[in-house]
This record gives sequence, structure tokens and C-alpha cells, in this order.
Amino acid sequence: MRARVSDADRQRWNQEYAAGRWDFLSSPVEHTRLSLVAGMLRCAPEDDVLDLGSGPGHLLDWLPVERAGRYVAVDIADEALARVARREPHARTVRASLSQFEPQAQRVGAIVASEVLTYDDDSVAQLARIVAAYQHVGQVIVSVLGPHPDKPNWTRGSERVWRALSDLSWTRVQSATLRNDRTGVTWELADLEPG
Ligand SMILES: C[S@@+](CC[C@H](N)C(=O)[O-])C[C@H]1O[C@@H](n2cnc3c(N)ncnc32)[C@H](O)[C@@H]1O
Repeated sequence: MRARVSDADRQRWNQEYAAGRWDFLSSPVEHTRLSLVAGMLRCAPEDDVLDLGSGPGHLLDWLPVERAGRYVAVDIADEALARVARREPHARTVRASLSQFEPQAQRVGAIVASEVLTYDDDSVAQLARIVAAYQHVGQVIVSVLGPHPDKPNWTRGSERVWRALSDLSWTRVQSATLRNDRTGVTWELADLEPG
């Protein structure tokens, strides 16, 4: 049986958004990171872009306007999805966890999993289940906070995610590393082709 995200998890994320805990996602370096995610999109403009753990949908700021109607935000937090809707009324939103999400289409141009794969131990397995549920997925773009000498849990999370992704044997098409030189925080990104 698949793990279910509890109402307590959802409430916690909602409360954290309301308290401003995730306001930093609109900071310049996070925008640089999301511009890299958007720059890795290779699918056609008419293809859907599924943003798993979308947060407030800052990725939309980097998508050409014609893609806005093709953007699908999936998140467990109502507060995050309310912000997506305020940002872009044409965006589709789905309130679901990675473990609950069921695709409503047969194909998707791109699945973005940006800063969402480190919260559950089996997140990559959940991502693989979603990919397998489609007949066609053009690409999967992943962003993960990189290892940090002062943050052992970041290091563990990053290693766990990249190890699980490499076990899937998806083809790596593009990679990027972003570093904030003021804080030493890094992010690792990859554009993968499932197959
Ligand atoms: C750090 S934010 C990342 C937001 C955005 N993707 C970005 O890159 O800026 C993580 C988001 O993932 C969502 N989230 C956490 N666990 C999740 C899960 N199991 N399923 C779906 N969404 C989840 C949270 O509600 C939050 O909006």
C-alpha cells in the first residue's frame, strides 16, 4: 500500500506558507535556479508541464505566456496552490501528494520535481510510479539542494535522491550546478529522459 500524506503534513505546509517560512522561494537566487529549470524544458509549447511540489508556482514566471495554460501545479498544500491560482488563473492545480497523484492524461511533455524529492524516503519511487503511469513522458527535470558541510541532512537527502535516480537508469541529457557564493548553498539540477 502506498504511503499517504497525512492531514497533519498538509496542515504543517499550509501553516508554514502562511507564516512566511517559504517566502525565500521568491529570492533572486531561487529565481536563478528556476530559470535553469525552465531553460532545460525541451518539450513542445503545446505539451503539458507537470510541476510536482510546485509551491507557489514561481516557475511560471520563467515560462513563455503560451505555456501558462499547459502548466499543471501539483502540491499537498492548499496555500501553495492558492498562490499559483493568483499568479496565473489559466494554470491547472491539483491538490495531491506525490504518493496520491494519479495522471489524468496519457502523455506529458515534462515533469518537474524541483526541491520536493528530499521530504520522503521513497520520493523517487513515487516519482517513478507517476512516470510509469503515463504512456509518454518527454523529460523529467529535477532540482535538489546540494550537500553542505554544516547541513548533514541536506547531504544525506541529496545523496539518497541522486542514488535512487541513478538506479532508474534514465538518460541524463543536461546537468547544472548553481552555487550561491555568499552562503555556499548549492543546487544540483538534471534533465533526465525516462526510458
Ligand atoms: C521547497 S518547496 C519547492 C517549491 C518549488 N517546487 C520550487 O522549486 O521553488 C516544496 C513544496 O513541495 C510540497 N510538498 C512537500 N511534500 C510533498 C509531497 N509529498 N507531495 C506533493 N507536494 C509536496 C510543499 O507543499 C511545497 O510547496
